[in-house]
Amino acid sequence: MDIQAAQIRIAELREILRENSRRYYVDNAPTMSDYEFDQLMHELERLEAEFPQFDSPDSPTRRVGSDLDAPVGANAESGARQGFVQRPHRYPMLSLGNTYSISEIEEFAARADKALDGMPFTYSCELKFDGTAICLSYRKGRLVQALTRGDGIQGDDVTENVRRIPGIPQQLQGDYPEEFEIRGEILMPYAAFDALNREREAQEEAPFANPRNAASGSLKLIDPEEVAHRGLICTLYHIPAESVTFASHSEALDAAARWGLPVSEDRRICHGIHEIKAFIDHWDSARKFLPYATDGIVIKINELACQRMLGYTAKSPRWAVAYKFKAEQACTELLSIDYQVGRTGAVTPVANLAPVQLSGTLVKRATLNNADQMALLDIRVGDWVFVEKGGEIIPKITGIDPARRVPGAERPAFPDRCPDCGTPLVRGEAEAKWFCPNQDGCPMQIKGRLLHFVSRKAMDILAGDMTVDQFYAAGLARTAADLYDISKYQLLSLEGWQDRAAQRFLDSLDASRQVPFERVLFALGIRYVGETTAKGLARHFGDIDALAAATREQLLEVEDVGEVIACSVFEFLHNPAHLEQIARLRAAGLRFSGAGQDAALSDALAGKTVVISGNFSISRERMKDLIVAHGGKAGSSVSARTAFLLAGAKPGPEKLRKCEKFGVPVVSEEEFMAMLPETASAGLPSGANPQPAAIEEPTLF
Ligand code: IVH
Repeated sequence: MDIQAAQIRIAELREILRENSRRYYVDNAPTMSDYEFDQLMHELERLEAEFPQFDSPDSPTRRVGSDLDAPVGANAESGARQGFVQRPHRYPMLSLGNTYSISEIEEFAARADKALDGMPFTYSCELKFDGTAICLSYRKGRLVQALTRGDGIQGDDVTENVRRIPGIPQQLQGDYPEEFEIRGEILMPYAAFDALNREREAQEEAPFANPRNAASGSLKLIDPEEVAHRGLICTLYHIPAESVTFASHSEALDAAARWGLPVSEDRRICHGIHEIKAFIDHWDSARKFLPYATDGIVIKINELACQRMLGYTAKSPRWAVAYKFKAEQACTELLSIDYQVGRTGAVTPVANLAPVQLSGTLVKRATLNNADQMALLDIRVGDWVFVEKGGEIIPKITGIDPARRVPGAERPAFPDRCPDCGTPLVRGEAEAKWFCPNQDGCPMQIKGRLLHFVSRKAMDILAGDMTVDQFYAAGLARTAADLYDISKYQLLSLEGWQDRAAQRFLDSLDASRQVPFERVLFALGIRYVGETTAKGLARHFGDIDALAAATREQLLEVEDVGEVIACSVFEFLHNPAHLEQIARLRAAGLRFSGAGQDAALSDALAGKTVVISGNFSISRERMKDLIVAHGGKAGSSVSARTAFLLAGAKPGPEKLRKCEKFGVPVVSEEEFMAMLPETASAGLPSGANPQPAAIEEPTLF
C-alpha cells in the first residue's frame, strides 16, 4: 500500500473505530460485530506499525473504549442516569490484547518464555465474561466505591447501583486486607435478559440487542431500586497486583472467594500451550451451556512477579491475552449478486442468498464489500458461502466452500458502469471501492444523500426509503434544502398520502429546525465526517461561518482531524453548490451555530422525571430531547418517583396500570406542550395527538 492510500485508510479506520466504540460503550447499541471491530483494530495496528509517521496519541489503538456517561440525551436507554460523578481510578483500568488465532496464543506464550528468561511460570486460564467491567473498592472490609471502566483513567461512580446487585458483599469476612481493589464484570444472565426484553416490548420500548448491552444499560439506571430488579450478577477476576501481597493471581482470587467475593470456579492453572489449547477446546463448546454470555478465554501469566516483569503497553497488560471465539456462521447458496450505489457513489456488491437461519434470524442478503473481496474469495454464483452476522443488521460473506462448487460456475463480472445511471465507474488508486462519479445526476446517490439527511442520527425527519423515492420521482426533492420547500398540498397530491401523514411529516420537518449544529453538520454528508468528527468540528469552530473560513491547517487543529478529513471538509465548504445548499438550509431555519446538545430551552421540567409512551406528532427521540432541553429527565419505566406519564396515541397498557398503582398523573401531548414556555416550544408542534402514520424506515436488508 502506498503512503497516500495508507493515510486515507488510517483516517477512515480511526473514524469507524471511534464511532463504533461510542456505539458499543456509550449507546449500548453496537452496529458492528465484535469480530469485525477487532479485525479493523488489527488492520489499524498493522498500518500504524508500517507507517509510523501517522502515529497519533489519540488513535483508538492507544486508548481504551470509553463508557463514560454520555452527554445529556445521548444514552440509548431513556432511564439511564445522566451525569454520574466521575472519579479517577487508582490504577488505570486497561483493556486486553485479543486474537482469534491459536497460533497467536502460541506466539504470546513464546514471547513470555523469552522475556521471562528461564523464570518458572504458569498460566491462569479463565472465561472471558461478556458484560461490562466494574472496579470495586473495599476499605476495612466494607464496599466503599464502584466505578465503571470509563476511559480507563476515570470511571462513572455507580456505587449505589452496585450495592443493589445480589452477590456483591457489602461486608467481607475473614482475613481481608485493610484496603484493596478488585475488578470484574457485571453480567445479565440469559434468563434475566429474555425477561427484560419481553417486558420492554410489552412497554413499547426497544429491546436490548444482547445481554452485554442490557447489563451495561442497567448499571447506569437512574433508580438503584430498578437496578435491583434487573437480575444482574457479578463475577470478579482481577486484583491489581499493587493492591495485595500474594505470590500469584490464582492465590489472590482464591482468597477473594474466601472473603465472600463472587469469583468463578471455571479457571485452571495450565502449564503450557497444550493445556491452554485443551482448556480453549473444552470451553468453546461447554460455554454454550453456561447461563450467561462469554466471548472467549483469557490467558494470564499467573505469577505476580512475572507479571510485574512483563508490565503493560499503553492499552493492555503484556502478561495476558484474550482468545476470542468466532461468531456463529451459517452456510448457504449464493443465488445472485446486486450492485448497490451508496450516497457517496461507492458501489457495493450485495449477495442474494438462499434463506438461512443465523443466530435467531432468517438471512437472505449479505454484503460482499467490494470487488477486491469478491476476487479474494474467488466467488461464483451458485457457490455455497459462509455468512456471519456483522453487528446489528448487515450480515457478511466471509468465505466459500470450495468442495461444493458446481462445475462450470461462472465468475461474476463486476460492472464497469453505474448500475443506476450507466456512468462509467472510476476507482482512485487509494480507494478500495469503485465509484460512480455522477454525483449530481445519479438517482441512487441523490436519494442516498436525502436518506442520510433525514436519518434518525442526523435530522430525524419522518421519511424512509419509499417516501424519498416518491419525492424524487415527483421532482419534489433533489437536495436536502428542497425538503423544506415541500407544501402540504404537494404531499397530498402524492399517492397514498393523507392529511395525517402529511402533517406528521411537516411537523417532523419543523422539529428538525431544533436539531443541534453538530447533527446538522453530520447530516450534510461530508465524506469522512461521522457523528464524532462532526461533534469535534462543531465544538471547535462554534458555527458554520467559522468552519467555512478555516484553512486546512486550522482544521487540523481539531482533535482527531487528520489530512484526509481536513481536505474533505475544506473542499466541501469551498464548493459553490454546497454553499448555496447551506444558505438555503439556513434560510429554512436550521441551526448552523452552537456546540453541544440541544441548548437548555427552559427549566420548566427541572427536577422532574417524565416517562413517555405511545406515538406523538414528533418522534420519541425528539420528544425525549425536548424533555431534557426543558430541564427534565426522560425515565424508562413508571415508578413512584415519576412526575408524570406523557401519553401519546396508544400508550402502553402496562405503563398506564403502573400510573394507577403509584398515583402518577397521565398527561397528553397537548397538555405537555402547554406546560412549556411559549417561545421555547416555538417551532415544535402543539397540536392534538394524531394517529401514527405508517412511515417506512430505510432498510437495505
Ligand atoms: S483481566 C488488565 N479477566 O475483557 C486487564 N478481563 O476485552 C485485566 N474480561 O477489560 C482484565 N473476562 O473487562 C480479565 N477473566 C477475565 C475477563 C476480563 C472479561 C473483560 C475485561 C477487559 C475486557 C477486554
